[in-house]
Amino acid sequence: MKRYQGVSEIELHINGRPRRVTIRPGDTLLRTLRETLGLVGTKMGCENGDCGACTVLLDGVPIKSCITLTLDAEGRDVTTIEGLSDSPIQRAFIESYGFQCGFCTPGMILNAHALLQSNPSPGAETVRSWMESNLCRCTGYEPIENAIRMAAGIDSRE
Ligand code: FES
Ligand code: FES
Repeated sequence: MKRYQGVSEIELHINGRPRRVTIRPGDTLLRTLRETLGLVGTKMGCENGDCGACTVLLDGVPIKSCITLTLDAEGRDVTTIEGLSDSPIQRAFIESYGFQCGFCTPGMILNAHALLQSNPSPGAETVRSWMESNLCRCTGYEPIENAIRMAAGIDSRE
C-alpha cells in the first residue's frame, strides 16, 4: 500500500542492488537518484518531461525520471547509466563519437539500450522514431543513430 503523506522509507532495486531510501511523497525518481543516492549520471534537464536527459529504465522500460514519483518505483528494477557501464551500447557511442557535450548522452544510451532489447536489428526509421523522445543540442543526431546501428551490428551505410 503506497503512503502519500509524511516521510517513508522504501526499497528500490537500482542496477541490480537493493537500496533503501527515505523519501517524501512528492520526491521524483530523478532527484532521489541524484541527490539521495549520488547517481549523478542521470541528468537534470527540463524537469518537465520534454528533453529525455533524465531517462532511466523501470522494469526495462524507458521512463522520464523527472516526472516519475520515487514512490512509484518501490520494489521495481531501476537501471541508470551507471548500470550500463562498459556495455556494448555505451562503447558504440564512444567509438562512433555519438556525443559532443555529453549532457544528453546517458538518456540517449538508456533509451537506445531499451530499443535494442526489444528490437535487436532496427531499421533507420525505427531508430529515428524511437529516439524522438530524447533531444540533443549538439550532434545533429546522425552520430547518435550511427552509434545505435553500430551497437546493433548494422553497417551505417545500409
Ligand atoms: S529532465 Fe526529464 S525530460 Fe527533461
Ligand atoms: S551531446 Fe550535447 S546535448 Fe547532446
